[in-house]
Amino acid sequence: MLPVSSRTMVGTANASVHGRCMEMLHMRVKLLQDTASAVMYITDYGRAAGEAYFSLLSPVRTAAIQFYQFITGRRTKMSKVAVVYWSGTGNTEAMANSVADGARAAGADVKVFTSAEFGPADIAGFDGIAFGCPAMGAEVLEESEFQPLWDDVKIKLSGKKVGLFGSYGWGSGEWMDSWAEDAKMSNVSLAADPVIANNEPDDEAKSACEALGAALV
Ligand SMILES: Cc1cc2nc3c(=O)[nH]c(=O)nc-3n(C[C@H](O)[C@H](O)[C@H](O)COP(=O)(O)O)c2cc1C
Repeated sequence: MLPVSSRTMVGTANASVHGRCMEMLHMRVKLLQDTASAVMYITDYGRAAGEAYFSLLSPVRTAAIQFYQFITGRRTKMSKVAVVYWSGTGNTEAMANSVADGARAAGADVKVFTSAEFGPADIAGFDGIAFGCPAMGAEVLEESEFQPLWDDVKIKLSGKKVGLFGSYGWGSGEWMDSWAEDAKMSNVSLAADPVIANNEPDDEAKSACEALGAALV
């Protein structure tokens, strides 16, 4: 049996070991808690940083694309097409509507004018222009309104995509041959062959008109 003083010392030693163990345990628990809160902090920080990055990225990316388009000129610009026609009984008007449908389906911004509504000053606003007039007189264009308009505009169509169309009755299209020849002599470049329809346009003629409209885009 140990003397009292030694027993006291052993008891004191045991207490001190126990205290140190508890202290280390507390330290480990605290370390774990600190690590966990550090991980949570980093995760939150990461998420916030990610959100900030993406919210910044979107406008920066948009601005970069716009700058690229500006520099390269690759901006997607909507083509503008005018359809200008004269029609006495509606056949050429029906063709004009099909030409407009075709241009619209090809992505153009389209405006339809009667020949009384259009003039040389309007040309600048369009990339492509379709002109429609039926065979009148003796294989000629309508003389009081359409022919004067054509004479005014044909010398101002440089750089434009141009199309010609119209309806006829008993002839075989001579008026259109003369008209296309006049366009050529006036340096008008036709984007597609002229389209003619016998009287009211049938489905085939309407499809040809739509293709003419698409060629102007
Ligand atoms: C005064 C007049 C003259 C015409 N001259 C011709 C002609 O020379 N050749 C022809 O094929 N058709 C001629 N036609 C028939 C028209 O071209 C045909 O009816 C056409 O479909 C009319 O088109 P719109 O409905 O757009 O007016 C003439 C019609 C009229 C009223």
